[in-house]
Amino acid sequence: MLSKEKVVNAFRGTIVGREIIYFDSTASTNDTAFEIARGRENPGGLVIVADSQTRGRGRMGRRWISPPGVNLYFTVVLNSPFSPEESSIFVIASAVAAAEAIRKYAGLNATIKWPNDIMINGRKTGGILVEMKSGTTTENLVAIGFGLNVNMTINAVTQDIRPFTTSFMIESGCPIDRMNVFGGVLAEMENAYKFLLKGNKRALINDWLRLNSTIGNKIAVQTHDYVIRGIAHAVNEKGELLVRLASGEMKTVSAGDVTILK
Ligand code: BTN
Repeated sequence: MLSKEKVVNAFRGTIVGREIIYFDSTASTNDTAFEIARGRENPGGLVIVADSQTRGRGRMGRRWISPPGVNLYFTVVLNSPFSPEESSIFVIASAVAAAEAIRKYAGLNATIKWPNDIMINGRKTGGILVEMKSGTTTENLVAIGFGLNVNMTINAVTQDIRPFTTSFMIESGCPIDRMNVFGGVLAEMENAYKFLLKGNKRALINDWLRLNSTIGNKIAVQTHDYVIRGIAHAVNEKGELLVRLASGEMKTVSAGDVTILK
């Protein structure tokens, strides 16, 4: 298990990690983050960490398998200076933070599959769930939940996702220090947030483009209602994916799952 001591001392930025709260187990760190934030006067920078989750959630209503003792599950709470429509920039920023930290602290060639799947050698090793709650006391808060498969073996996940899943340990052949990666993501997140506060979205989009493994590829995107096939052409300032169809028409996709086609 993680030690509370190590977790709370992993990183302390001027904003991110001003308060870090550790749980051996929680249902979902995103839910716990909103609950705790509600009771704080200024929750911006609050980080909730758990060694395991009993109801870890993924994007598009999926479950996030969260066994104890091996991976990282944590949520960073930030004040959003943006409208809810513009908040997708946090999706871009958090993917950059995770990929950069994995490169620096695990020495692995992490890339980003749109919008914010963290990939190594074509398999998913991390996911990020960005949530906002409108019409509540936590209205201008964004919860950014990171799930990173660090030292998990492939048997930890269900058979159906094994061909598409990996962990840092599987890729590097040796266990990776979870605390180094955790501290690294927080440090990168603090940098990214400061860029956003200065209005410098472009720098983050450029970082995302440098780290991404989607643009230029033939892809299929599964949205809630339909599948689109085409060439991933670009991302716009809202973090939406522009897909060029075979007909030449350009489609804009704001949420979905990308498969890279050969
Ligand atoms: C995805 O579907 O790719 C996003 C997965 C996000 C999982 C993390 S684990 C920490 C936080 N708490 C949750 O319940 N989900 C996110």
